[in-house]
Amino acid sequence: MSDKANSESDVKETVTEERPLKIESVLPVKTVSIESVKEGHTDTMSPHRRIFKWFARRPTTTTRLAILGSVLPPEVEDEQLLRWMCVGPKENIETSIEEYVLNKHATKDDRDGSIEEHFGYEYTHRRLPSESEIEDIHETVRSHWDGELPLILDPTAGGGTIPLEALRYGFPTVSNELNPVAWLLNKVILEFAPTHGSLESDVRKWMSRISESVEQELSEFFPKRNGVEPNHYFRAYSIDCPSCGKPLPISNRWWFNKRLSAAVRPYLDEEENLRFEAIKVPEEVSTDEFDPDEGTVEGGDVTCPHCNVVTERTDVVEIFKEGKFDYELCGVRYTEKIDGTQYHSPTDEDREAVRKAKDKIDSDLELATLLTQDRYIGYYDRSEPYGIEQWRDLYSPRQLLSHAAYLQAFNDIKPDILGNYSDEKGEAVLTLLSFISVKMINRNSRLEPIKLNFGSPNSMLGNNNFSFQWHFGESNLMSGTFSYETEAKNILDHYEEVVRYVSHTDPESATVQRGDAADLPQSDNSVGSVVVDPPYGDSIMYAEVADAFYVWFREYLRDIYPSAFSSPETNKEDEAVENPVIVSEESGSSTADAARKRYEEKMSGIFSEAHRVLETGGCLTIYFTDKEVSAWDSLTMSIIQSGFDITATHTITTEMPQRIGVKGDAAADTTLLLTCRKPIDNRSEREPTLWRDIQEETRIAAREKANELYNSNHNLTKTDMIISAFGPTLRTFTQNYPVVDDKDNPVRPKEALREARAAVTKVIIERELSGDLEAVDPLTTWYVLSWLVYDREDIPYDEARQLGMGVGVEIDDVKYDSKIWGKSKKTLLLKGQNHRVQDYTELEAGEDYRKRAFGVNPQDTSFDYNIDAVHAALNVLDTKGSDFVWNWIQDRDLQNKPGFLKTIQSLHQVLPNSHPDKKLIVDLLSGETGELLDADVETLSKANNGGTTRTTLEDF
Ligand SMILES: C[S@@+](CC[C@H](N)C(=O)[O-])C[C@H]1O[C@@H](n2cnc3c(N)ncnc32)[C@H](O)[C@@H]1O
Ligand SMILES: [Zn+2]
Repeated sequence: MSDKANSESDVKETVTEERPLKIESVLPVKTVSIESVKEGHTDTMSPHRRIFKWFARRPTTTTRLAILGSVLPPEVEDEQLLRWMCVGPKENIETSIEEYVLNKHATKDDRDGSIEEHFGYEYTHRRLPSESEIEDIHETVRSHWDGELPLILDPTAGGGTIPLEALRYGFPTVSNELNPVAWLLNKVILEFAPTHGSLESDVRKWMSRISESVEQELSEFFPKRNGVEPNHYFRAYSIDCPSCGKPLPISNRWWFNKRLSAAVRPYLDEEENLRFEAIKVPEEVSTDEFDPDEGTVEGGDVTCPHCNVVTERTDVVEIFKEGKFDYELCGVRYTEKIDGTQYHSPTDEDREAVRKAKDKIDSDLELATLLTQDRYIGYYDRSEPYGIEQWRDLYSPRQLLSHAAYLQAFNDIKPDILGNYSDEKGEAVLTLLSFISVKMINRNSRLEPIKLNFGSPNSMLGNNNFSFQWHFGESNLMSGTFSYETEAKNILDHYEEVVRYVSHTDPESATVQRGDAADLPQSDNSVGSVVVDPPYGDSIMYAEVADAFYVWFREYLRDIYPSAFSSPETNKEDEAVENPVIVSEESGSSTADAARKRYEEKMSGIFSEAHRVLETGGCLTIYFTDKEVSAWDSLTMSIIQSGFDITATHTITTEMPQRIGVKGDAAADTTLLLTCRKPIDNRSEREPTLWRDIQEETRIAAREKANELYNSNHNLTKTDMIISAFGPTLRTFTQNYPVVDDKDNPVRPKEALREARAAVTKVIIERELSGDLEAVDPLTTWYVLSWLVYDREDIPYDEARQLGMGVGVEIDDVKYDSKIWGKSKKTLLLKGQNHRVQDYTELEAGEDYRKRAFGVNPQDTSFDYNIDAVHAALNVLDTKGSDFVWNWIQDRDLQNKPGFLKTIQSLHQVLPNSHPDKKLIVDLLSGETGELLDADVETLSKANNGGTTRTTLEDF
């Protein structure tokens, strides 16, 4: 079986460039998807990702496809391409690689052993083609590119996945990145690793000198107990209760390690000093007496355990802002068990150590001025309100003292290091050393809460928004889980692995540059292929979060890389993200609109620059992962404005669709590769296309894609199916650009995206709901579709609205009367019958119908929407039983209304089993009511479900 017929690649015969490329033909994307999903886990990621955190993650296999596809000719067979990408076993097999991989994928759940053992080959990033194969690749590429290997440029390189692979395949490579932290990381993997190779023994040698002097400096602040070193401390806060004046301990919970029953309990000693004791709950103290789940703060309001008076959030914030709080030492975890446990109460000596650390920070001039600069406060920042205004405020005094000690020791031996090596090697050693120290802030700041069931500090910036924490872990960096040695091991092990990955490469092949992608040093027409994974809207504010690390790197390396670290913080001005802070001063449009417009302009700048540096015969390949339609609209607009047409799109699944029934934000599960070209015709001479002339074509493109995906049995989520259809739709749109409406107004890509969404949902309905929903009104259709597409009650508001527009309903207009949905933040909640229908028995008992609270009155004799009738019927069934509802239906003649039955049948198919309405529907469709409705139970249970496993009546 070949993948071709079912491929998710989308290419038409449009390309007539002088140099056709493999990426513009059908690609083995299904196999690449399987491989990319395999890579998804932390332990199996490429080592360059693990040297230092960067905020986006792209699989190596997808990257290899993007790179090789963008330079190889279309004649290269899929089998050959996969072999060159190192997908599939090394030795010859009887089937094609695609068949082999699909088969392994299909049988993976029954495997013994690891995924690698089951598939019979290592993860792609651990492999490379043989020398002679690389020579073959180069030969093939050279003969396609006038004898030269094309230069591959990634203008927004981030953690460096794209340039690393380009380098490993021996292509001349340029990595460009704006952010100095990411740029440093690129230097390490693309420059230091190939140039200097192993640096472990050098780094370790200097590390031991640093450790020695740090220990002299810090030991007294981390007292041992019975000779055992502290691993870390549970820290929380206290204020003086504004009501009773007593010290009021603050934390949102008092568990140190819930799995091991370890908690810390606050109490007042005889002198009314606040103290803490380590206890086991419920072994030593029952939860009735003390429940560690119940902290003193909830939703920002603090309740005093002594007088029970609540201090409201606004006052608490004020108190913290003014610095009128204390740090509390609540518990100590040791590196080993003492008297049977690692978790202990703090002693006087421990408290004394904390006090001394604070004195030292206050009295030492250098320490008192370290990182005193004000933080840049981002739009989503959640700690500034609590007074974390300067960079040093991110740390408790002892944390700051610890980090400062490493910095001081590093700076003390810096001249020795520089004197010991060539300039280049000295830089490399210093850079790796600084990585080790700076990485330690991740587990030693006020922003990393204690993990509930592990007792250890989580990582800082978990939500990428500097969220304030009511308790945090304070680590002993000299020893234990989050020590200098641990980070060193992490960084060095992964660095050494990268060294092995690039040992065969020519160090001259890669150029690492720092700067704005909209202003590159490359000359016109000098780049063969631009492969880019751009920033997406406001999904990650890279510069803002990277600042936390940047300010420390600056202290370490400013003299080594003066221009990279000259400014006090990272560059937000040139960053291509939707940043509301930067635009807030602009007047006119809303902040959100202005931020979006600015992002579009920035991205246009980046793509225009790609356009300038790209050879005419080359292509731009863009990764796209965002699922928000608005981001798509912006990005496409930017592509168009910078002069490109989209010529091919491919859908790759990069994470397993595991969302069924899972709450929380749905992550993007697919990556789209969009390939763009400089149009051969002169676009400015193009006649505008009338929107209505291509509307049908965009719809057909989306429709074909959706059907193709169904036929491929890929089991994509519905949202991903919609996203996948955006590719071919946008290709049609850009190639007909400019597009205008009947009044000559420009039409934006989002119109085409809307067509795509509507077309795909139509296919979904056809495939999944045995036919159509024609008998059903638009609002009901929307309700059913929302369940079908998302499989959960909370869905992104904007997407739900778009879905509504696709079937002809403005969901905002019906919200108040129908009460069919509610909203929290950006999320829309789909309501079930019990939240929409007033209880029939209440009304019977003489209560009035409360229209403000309920959308549906079950005593009505007719209903505005099919969903209202169905919800009412379910409520009546629930409250009054099946005989009663039989009559209720008869009275309203609902058994003769096709929309009523169709709605019930559809809901039966789309609601998850866990939904309370599901059981009622099954009851309604069974027995006498089932007969009345003439529900064909047989057909229902066999309903065409398009390969997904939905429940049937028999499941109950
Ligand atoms: C999605 S990430 C790239 C991730 C990368 N592919 C990886 O594997 O780690 C986008 C990157 O664009 C960078 N960036 C944002 N604006 C930029 C600009 N104007 N010039 C260059 N890089 C920029 C961000 O700092 C971020 O690292
Ligand atoms: Zn009080």
